[in-house]
Amino acid sequence: MAESMKGLKRSHRCTEVSRADIGREVTVMGWVQKSRNKGSIIFVDLRDRSGLLQIIFEEGKISDEYFEKAAKLKSEFVIAVVGNVEERAGGVNKNMATGDIEIRARQLRVLSESLTPPFPVEEGIKTKEELRLKYRYLDLRRPDLQKNIILRSRIAVLIRQFLADEGFLEIETPILQKSTPEGARDYLVPSRVHPGKFYALPQSPQLFKQLLMVSGFDRYFQLAKCFRDEDLRADRQPEFTQVDMELSFVDVDEVLDVNERLLAKLFKEILDVDVPLPIQRMTWQEAMDRYGSDKPDTRFGMELCNVTDIVKNCGFGVFANAVKDGGSVRGINAKGQGHMPRKKIDALTAFVKDYGAKGLAYIAIGDDGTVKSSFAKFMTEDEMQSLIRKMDGENGDLLLFAADKNKVVYDSLGALRVELANQMGLLDKSQYNFLWVTEFPLLEWSEEEGRYTAMHHPFTMPMEEDWQYIDSDPGRVRAKAYDIVLNGTELGGGSVRIHQDDIQEKMFEVLGFTKEQAYDRFGFLMNAFKYGVPPHAGLAYGLDRLVMLMTKQDSIRDVIAFPKVKDASCLMTNAPDIVDDIQLQELGIAVVEEEKV
Ligand code: AMO
Ligand code: AMP
Repeated sequence: MAESMKGLKRSHRCTEVSRADIGREVTVMGWVQKSRNKGSIIFVDLRDRSGLLQIIFEEGKISDEYFEKAAKLKSEFVIAVVGNVEERAGGVNKNMATGDIEIRARQLRVLSESLTPPFPVEEGIKTKEELRLKYRYLDLRRPDLQKNIILRSRIAVLIRQFLADEGFLEIETPILQKSTPEGARDYLVPSRVHPGKFYALPQSPQLFKQLLMVSGFDRYFQLAKCFRDEDLRADRQPEFTQVDMELSFVDVDEVLDVNERLLAKLFKEILDVDVPLPIQRMTWQEAMDRYGSDKPDTRFGMELCNVTDIVKNCGFGVFANAVKDGGSVRGINAKGQGHMPRKKIDALTAFVKDYGAKGLAYIAIGDDGTVKSSFAKFMTEDEMQSLIRKMDGENGDLLLFAADKNKVVYDSLGALRVELANQMGLLDKSQYNFLWVTEFPLLEWSEEEGRYTAMHHPFTMPMEEDWQYIDSDPGRVRAKAYDIVLNGTELGGGSVRIHQDDIQEKMFEVLGFTKEQAYDRFGFLMNAFKYGVPPHAGLAYGLDRLVMLMTKQDSIRDVIAFPKVKDASCLMTNAPDIVDDIQLQELGIAVVEEEKV
């Protein structure tokens, strides 16, 4: 039975009622968290987004009709209660914001009933994520998710306020766009009016925000939905939100400056955390050499150590050959892990193999200084001692080495470093270490495609002093590109853009486009640049990642109201789904059944 709320008006949210209201009449509405029937007294915990409030229905002090109704209340019923605020009779409940008061009910309406929920609507439940996502609307009722989503709203409002105060204009860009693949795969949308033609959903508003600079808007921002058809991970979703911005007549420093102040304000106001400014800057090369990663977690040390010089001529073929083939040998010192059992070292070896490493050589130094090693027998005593010295190896330490092409060595040791820190409990979630990584390489060699691809995107400005190498040694050219990294997560990235058409044309040439191909895809941008383009630069944050870190969650799914799962489907609505034949006919699309093998 669902009653109407006619004649009633909510006076307070649950936790807006306090001791100051004792004696007053209030009208509260919400969900029954739990009801306990003690015979002549029924206690109900009422929940809304603010929290919980205890209601008591006492036989004789409320009409029989209401008392009987109260006896039938179950979890998740939606009710309205009119009653008086009283000091809590049964002693203060310190775990509840409203633990020192209760509402003595005088009226009760059941606004709607509820089936028994498939899982308890409570904080910190252990229910499988699949079930929670199928009933996401109930999952979202739980206080932990409510907190995340409410914080996300506050963060978005603060960002808007800050950027507006700094002279940024909020401008929307189209969702139905021309496909300009570079980077991830596009999501395509067929056109009914133009059979055989497709729109693409934006991977980011990149080109439009640059055009807005051509149009003279000077400073733009947008909380932009972006779509990328790529493999999902804990910090990736097929649709996600960027805090996207672009500025005219600026170089790297101005972009970093305004963003540092934005981050400092956010962390101060939301978490009361002081972000020391300026944020540390590190070149990409230094980040790779010291941490094996372009998004280093600087909350702990365990830096990489290059031992190539010591082992280049040693008797251990794995090391010597890697150096001979143009690679390197590097190691990390896992302090105090010298006692690690062989089995665990084998597990770490399997771990680095996922990053392309062929093995993981080790030296374990016992507490008494005795050395166990997987390769000592190939080395001279001098070489072993030099290695240990270079790695700062002390009694009780575990030294781990990778030998390969630089990329493999960086990737595997970079990941191993974080894995070990995790195992060793070195990752403190209450610490926020920001870092700018700058001077990324402009280009990246793609083995798959047999050509250079843009490391950031094709509109990124090369560093003036490196442009001379664009033909002779393209891999050496650095870009005016920067990423903002927080605790080992890439929060955002951006660059100064190319605004000279000769550099842009050359860039497309290096990327392997003919002039025709480049104009076919990006002609609208290049033409626009012929009509007066200001120097410009910008940056975009992943809002989901920012909120994830600020709420100390491990997955962005926990800060997105309706996220998708690993295979990019929505467990609640069943999207994607087949569509009616008639819809396909209108679009001129025929679905080819995949052949079953
Ligand atoms: P980029 O591709 O680096 O740059 O993206 C910017 C930020 O967006 C976030 N992000 C994601 N978040 C969740 N799920 C995803 N699948 C996902 N992909 C990216 C990351 C990333 O740092 N137009 C440029 C920005 C610029 O140059 O101004 C761009 O999109 O946090
Ligand atoms: P093997 O000679 O294959 O028995 O390897 C001896 C040791 O070297 C083992 O601990 C391997 O894990 C390690 N190892 C093998 N290949 C590499 C490599 N490319 N880099 C680092 N260690 C390696």
